[in-house]
Amino acid sequence: MELKLELEHLTKRYGENTALDDVTITLTPGTYGLLGANGAGKSTLMNLITDNVKRDGGKICFNGEDILSLGDKFRSQLGYMPQQQGVYEQMTAESFISYIGRLKGLKGKALRAQVDHVLELVNLSDVRHKKVGGFSGGMKQRVLLAQALLGSPKVLLLDEPTAGLDPRERVRIRNFIKELAQDRIVLLATHIVTDIESIADQVLLLKKGKLLRVDTPQNLIGALPADWKPVMGVLSLEDVYLYFLGEQHG
Ligand SMILES: Nc1ncnc2c1ncn2[C@@H]1O[C@H](COP(=O)(O)OP(=O)(O)O)[C@@H](O)[C@H]1O
Ligand SMILES: [Mg+2]
Repeated sequence: MELKLELEHLTKRYGENTALDDVTITLTPGTYGLLGANGAGKSTLMNLITDNVKRDGGKICFNGEDILSLGDKFRSQLGYMPQQQGVYEQMTAESFISYIGRLKGLKGKALRAQVDHVLELVNLSDVRHKKVGGFSGGMKQRVLLAQALLGSPKVLLLDEPTAGLDPRERVRIRNFIKELAQDRIVLLATHIVTDIESIADQVLLLKKGKLLRVDTPQNLIGALPADWKPVMGVLSLEDVYLYFLGEQHG
């Protein structure tokens, strides 16, 4: 089956503020790092794909059909890990994930099998009956990741999945995500370069709502000016961020 998510001239305004400005890109299976400073429009882009937020212009098509007409048929293919956490502290890991599963239309045996499966994937089977409120930041993020994986979605949106994690937890989540990317479209939003530099096939540079460039990390590094001085000894995606997304450029 072809797998294609097309964003065409996508625009979102909040009053005078254009949060997303005429973004066009076609995503096929692979891992995409959506890189931009706070306020660049990363969450807005994801909210438009999940249809949590109404777009002001443009179109989103999944395998050639508008997601608004696909409705549930698209939502069943979509996993979304939101940026915020903290609303489900009183629930156990299992009950929270089951709850989201029911919202996604799963029930009975299929629901239980899926919940077991995603808890296993993120390594939380042992603590499934414990309250999420007592979990570490990394465990909470894995709970959020687990619910996004219910139903084995073909499109996975991860909004700042390593926010608030210590370095070890960060690496762990990153490794999970790397394994997920086979045969799927994974879009990972972050303002932290190291979250994506080892796992992104393509990097989307977003600045003030505009998609500046889309390319492989290598090509982006290659596009730096010849006289650019690396910030850490050798040129890296960190330099790409500083050069393209810094105040001076564009
Ligand atoms: N619900 C909202 N109401 C008003 N402005 C918003 C809302 N959500 C986002 N914005 C604005 O849209 C812009 C992009 O925000 P956001 O998509 O959250 O950026 P990012 O996720 O990259 O930090 C910012 O200027 C932000 O203030
Ligand atoms: Mg955000």
